[in-house]
Amino acid sequence: MSISLTEKDWQRLQEELQKARLEAQQLSLVLSEAWDELTLLYDLAEQLRGLLDIQKVVHLIAERTRELMDMEGVAVMLKEPEGEWNIAIAFCSPDREEWLRASWGKSIADSIVRQGKGTILNDLFDHPRWGSIAAAFGIANIVAVPLNPKGHMQGVLVVWNKRQGDWMAGELKLLSTIAAQGGGVIESAYLFQQLQETFHGTISALASAVDAKSRWTAGHSHRVTQFALQLAADLGFTEQELQQVHLSGLLHDIGKVGVPDAILDKPGPLSDEEWTTMKRHPVIGYEILKNIRQFHGPILDGVLYHHERVDGKGYPLGLKGKDIPLIGRLLSVADGFDAMTSDRPYRAGMPVEKALQILTEGAGTQWDRELALRFVALQKRKE
Ligand SMILES: [Fe+2]
Repeated sequence: MSISLTEKDWQRLQEELQKARLEAQQLSLVLSEAWDELTLLYDLAEQLRGLLDIQKVVHLIAERTRELMDMEGVAVMLKEPEGEWNIAIAFCSPDREEWLRASWGKSIADSIVRQGKGTILNDLFDHPRWGSIAAAFGIANIVAVPLNPKGHMQGVLVVWNKRQGDWMAGELKLLSTIAAQGGGVIESAYLFQQLQETFHGTISALASAVDAKSRWTAGHSHRVTQFALQLAADLGFTEQELQQVHLSGLLHDIGKVGVPDAILDKPGPLSDEEWTTMKRHPVIGYEILKNIRQFHGPILDGVLYHHERVDGKGYPLGLKGKDIPLIGRLLSVADGFDAMTSDRPYRAGMPVEKALQILTEGAGTQWDRELALRFVALQKRKE
């Protein structure tokens, strides 16, 4: 049997085919967009995992949001525990942030966090309550979603001025998903930060207690830490290595708790016997801290080796050159500089210039050559 198509049938068939082709095209577009979104969200989840720095988390959230949507601006606002709203990050021209700083922006952020879910505000210029203020700031439309609304560090992810058309429910859902992923990480990062601050506070108080044993060493550990951190940063240490330098610097003289005050405070040069006692402080410090597993490695090395000299004439072990762990050589420079420039019972602190000259002369014998010269250059740049 043959099928004969009339002209009209043929035309209809062509139209159907064309429609189907268009639908297929649209479907493939929707699918590929959905795939892009999924990929981005998956990447985001991967990258967020293990992030414990709030600034990095919000940066990632804003960055991914910007990739997903075509709008003028995106920002994350965070609420301080005292209740003050701050812009944690914003991608837009600097003057465009003004509306977020205004009480209008803050009140929107507050209401989003309070209601615990996101909202779309299209056609803001026609809004009965906010029309004039929105027009004043040039904010035509907004989508805002809460970040970590039940946590300690609450926030809002907000995007505004979509380039084409109105914000749709799908976009709100997408932003809510990003915010849900990011919010939990912000809470962990916040709790981690609190713990870290408490820990640092305790270590810092311990350092002050040691320095307070003698009025001549007041503030010594904190100053040595600052000098060591400056040098370490100049050497390009990583964030984690800087943390180690920080803690090791604060704790380097902790062993002085085992040195009698009469020796620490003696208004004159020490006798041989007194020196022997004084020289035990790196080992005493090591003994005090060695059972704390988290201090193993560079932190303990700094405590034990900050009085070694590269020519082998230091203590407690008389190690030479690169046998002395880097952090020991680094703290030795910072410690030497602070000791020289601070007052002692039997002499006044020397001028910075003089101390830098001694460091230069001792580069390669008392101190690691590269570290000492680098420190001198660094201090001279600061003058
Ligand atoms: Fe020391």
